[in-house]
Amino acid sequence: MMEIPSIFTPVDWSFAFYEGLNQHQDSTSRDKTYAELGCGNGWISIALAEKLSPLKVYGLDINPRAIKIAWINLYLNALDDNGLPVYDREGKTLLDRVEFHESDLLSYCIDNKIELDCIVGCIPQILNPNPEAISKIMTENSSEKFLYSLSNYCALQGFFEDQFGLGLIARAVEEGRAVIKPMGIMIFNIGGRPGQGVCERLFLRRGFHISKLWQTKIMQAADTDISALVEIEQNSPHPFEFFMDLVGDQSVSARTAQAYMKSGGRVSHALSVYSCQLHKPIQVPSHFLYICKLSNTVMEVVLIQMIVR
Ligand SMILES: C[S@@+](CC[C@H](N)C(=O)[O-])C[C@H]1O[C@@H](n2cnc3c(N)ncnc32)[C@H](O)[C@@H]1O
Repeated sequence: MMEIPSIFTPVDWSFAFYEGLNQHQDSTSRDKTYAELGCGNGWISIALAEKLSPLKVYGLDINPRAIKIAWINLYLNALDDNGLPVYDREGKTLLDRVEFHESDLLSYCIDNKIELDCIVGCIPQILNPNPEAISKIMTENSSEKFLYSLSNYCALQGFFEDQFGLGLIARAVEEGRAVIKPMGIMIFNIGGRPGQGVCERLFLRRGFHISKLWQTKIMQAADTDISALVEIEQNSPHPFEFFMDLVGDQSVSARTAQAYMKSGGRVSHALSVYSCQLHKPIQVPSHFLYICKLSNTVMEVVLIQMIVR
């Protein structure tokens, strides 16, 4: 796989996600259409296509250079040493099964009216400590530093979950509801820093039921600034959940974690892979068209009533 400095290099965070994806048993993947949000260098989309032989995997990323590298990686894997296509048992090549597109979350699929059976995503969950940086116009010629920052940080998205850094995931779930088939599945990598309850409610309050495919602990990336989480803690009663090193179940706050990291220590956090499916596949999308005009609180009450019923 080719990598360049302006795109994310797969680390523990991505490998744990792939481990979680492997726990999802889908015996009928052959005729299915997948989308991967935040595909980076494309390795997960390519691995899914090789393993599941789906109809199509759309690898999507907002970073234009990631999409270029993902296409190069696709060709490197689809062709043999002589540059000839490698055919699978169905007489197809990886080039038939995978496409990469520049896309803000699912905008490519929404614009092209592509219905999906499965949406998977490993996307940022920390607010950018420098909000002005992320409002810059993005082009292929943007600086390496700026493009790389898209791997770790997101901007405010206008959702309740922004306060926990999960706004981008919340928007992905809402967009997913517009393009997922009724029995479709979404699978997300969720860092446990805001606590399990907050993470799970993000899906429940949008009409999805969830199952946890995988849970582990990973080290907090040393190159990610967690000061946005410390600031949230200062302004709310909500503590985040970090752990000192990889051992121990006693969580510490983002403030303590940041101080520990500054003094040379390493901290970890929980990482879970959740799969989610619409609780009532026919009713929820149509009800949502109606209730999305209501306030967040009213919407949550209506949804909880639908789930309870
Ligand atoms: C943590 S990296 C994961 C990359 C890849 N899936 C992997 O595991 O190696 C997150 C990716 O999400 C992308 N990203 C960030 N915001 C996005 C958005 N709004 N829409 C699509 N992709 C986004 C970043 O450019 C980055 O490639």
